[in-house]
Amino acid sequence: MKVYISSDSAATAVGADDVAAALTKHAADKGIEIELKRIGSRGMAWLEPLVEVEIDGVRHGFGGVSPDDVAAVLDNSSDKALGPVDEIEWMKRQTRLTFARCGVIEPLNLDEYRAHGGLVGLTRATSLTGGEIVREVTDSGLRGRGGAGFPTGIKWKTVHDAVAPQKYIVCNADEGDSGTFADRMIMEGDPFSLIEGMAIAGLAVGATRGYVYLRSEYPDAIRVMNAALDIARREGVLGDSVMGSGRAFDMWVRVGAGAYVCGEETSLLNSLEGKRGTVRAKPPLPALEGFLGKPTVVNNVISLATVPVIMERGAQNYADFGIGRSRGTATLQVAGNVARGGLFETAFGMTLGELVNEIAGGTASGRPVKAVQVGGPLGAYMPLSKFDTPLGYEEFDKAGGLIGHAGLVVFDDTADMLQMARFAMEFCAVESCGKCTPCRIGATRGVETIDRIARGDEAAKVILADLCETMKDGSLCALGGFTPYPVMSAVTEFPDDFATAKEAAE
Ligand code: NAI
Ligand code: SF4
Repeated sequence: MKVYISSDSAATAVGADDVAAALTKHAADKGIEIELKRIGSRGMAWLEPLVEVEIDGVRHGFGGVSPDDVAAVLDNSSDKALGPVDEIEWMKRQTRLTFARCGVIEPLNLDEYRAHGGLVGLTRATSLTGGEIVREVTDSGLRGRGGAGFPTGIKWKTVHDAVAPQKYIVCNADEGDSGTFADRMIMEGDPFSLIEGMAIAGLAVGATRGYVYLRSEYPDAIRVMNAALDIARREGVLGDSVMGSGRAFDMWVRVGAGAYVCGEETSLLNSLEGKRGTVRAKPPLPALEGFLGKPTVVNNVISLATVPVIMERGAQNYADFGIGRSRGTATLQVAGNVARGGLFETAFGMTLGELVNEIAGGTASGRPVKAVQVGGPLGAYMPLSKFDTPLGYEEFDKAGGLIGHAGLVVFDDTADMLQMARFAMEFCAVESCGKCTPCRIGATRGVETIDRIARGDEAAKVILADLCETMKDGSLCALGGFTPYPVMSAVTEFPDDFATAKEAAE
C-alpha cells in the first residue's frame, strides 16, 4: 500500500514527521506492508498534516491527521477521510501547470520527474537555437512572477542579444513578501522544475553559469535544492554537455543573510557579489550589466519553473490560458485570516471575490472580510467594493492595486486600517537600504505622521498624501516607491478608521 505525506515545511511545522513516524511504526507492529513516500505540498495548508493512501490507483486524503489517527487511516475507517484528493474542490478548480508535479512526486526522484513530463522541455530546447527558445518564451506571454510582471521573453532577448564572454542566470529566491510561499513550495516540492527552467534559460541566452539566491530563512529549500543539484549534475542534466547536447550549463545555490531589500534585483546582485545589499541605480539594467558586470537574466523562481511546461507544451498552449495581457496561470498564495489557505494555481481572470469567498471560504474567524492585501507588504488593501476585479496585471493596476508575487493576506472586520497603514510605513523604515532620501527619511516621517492622524490631527492627512507622492515619485526602488500603495489605499478605502481615531481623540 502506498502512503504519501508531505515533507514541505508547512506540513512538518504542524507535525507531519511525527505522523510519518507513527505510520511506519504502526505498519511494522501490525505487519501491514506500506511504502511511505514523502512528497511536496499539495498546497492545501489547512489540511496538513495531510495523509494520502492509494486505493485502487486513486489517492484518498485524510486531513489534519495526528499520530493517534494512523490506525484508522490505514484501515480506512477514519472520520478524517476526505475522499479522492483530486476531487477536493480546491484541487478540482485549479489549472496546475507550474505546480503540476508538486505534491504528486517525490521531490528528489528524477525518474518520477521524467515520468511526469519533466525534462521534455529541456530536451526540446537543446534542439533549438537560443533565439528560437527566446521566441517561444516571448510568444507564451509569460511575465515576471516575482512582482513586476515584465515580459520574460523580452528580458531574455536583451541578454541573448548582448555580446559578452560570460553571461549568467540568477534566480531570485529571496521570497520576502508577507503571505507568500510559492517559491519555497516549488523548491521543496519540485526542485528539478527550477533547475530545468534555469538550464533552458542558459541555453536561450548563452549563459553557462547560474545561481539561485536563496534566503537563509528557508533551510529545507536550501537542503532540497542542493541535493537536487547533485543529482542533476550526476545525471547529465547540468554540466559540460546538458542532456548530451554539447552545450554547457551549471548552477549553484547561494544563501542570502535575510534582508527584504535583497529581493530587489540589483541589491541581490550586490549581495551575490559579496557586497552590502544596497540598491544600484538603473540603468544599466542587469540584463546588460548584472552579476560581476556581465549580462544577467534575473528571474523569480516561479517564472523560471514555469518555462519547462511552456517548452513542453508549446507557447500557444500556455498563452491560451488567461485574460488580456496576463497569459497563463497565476500561482496564488492565500494567507491571513482565511478558512482555507494555501497555494491555488489558476488561469488569470478569476475575480478576487471568487477566490476569497468561494475558494478560500472567507475568514477563519467567521467574521466578515474587511480587506485583502494583494502583492505583499507593498500591495494595496483591496476593499469589498473591488472584489469584482479580475486577477490580471492591468486589471489590478486599473483598480489601484498590484498583483506582485500573487500573495493575498485576508483581514476580517476587526482590522484597524490605520494601524495597517502605520505598519506599512514602519516596515519600509526598518527594511530601507538607506540609499535614497524619500524612502530612508520619508518612511520614518510617515510613521510619525500617521501617529499624528491617530491623535486626531486632521492636517496630517494632507501631509501624509504629499509624503506618499514624494516617496512614489522619488524613490530609487519599489520598496520606497510602492509603500504608498498600502498606506494610501488604507486612507482612501477605509476613511472611517482614520475618522474614528480623530473622534476618539476629541
Ligand atoms: P521593474 O519594473 O524595475 O523591473 C522589472 C524587471 O524587468 C527587472 O528585472 C528589470 O531589470 C527588467 N527590465 C526592464 N526593462 C528591461 C529591458 N528593456 N530589457 C530587459 N530587462 C528589462 O521592477 P522591479 O523593481 O525589478 O520589481 C518591482 C516588483 O517587485 C514590485 O512589483 C513588487 O511587487 C515586487 N517585489 C517582490 C518581492 C517578492 O518577495 N517576490 C519582494 C519585494 C518586491
Ligand atoms: Fe534603498 Fe529605499 Fe531607496 Fe530602495 S527606495 S533604494 S530600499 S532607500
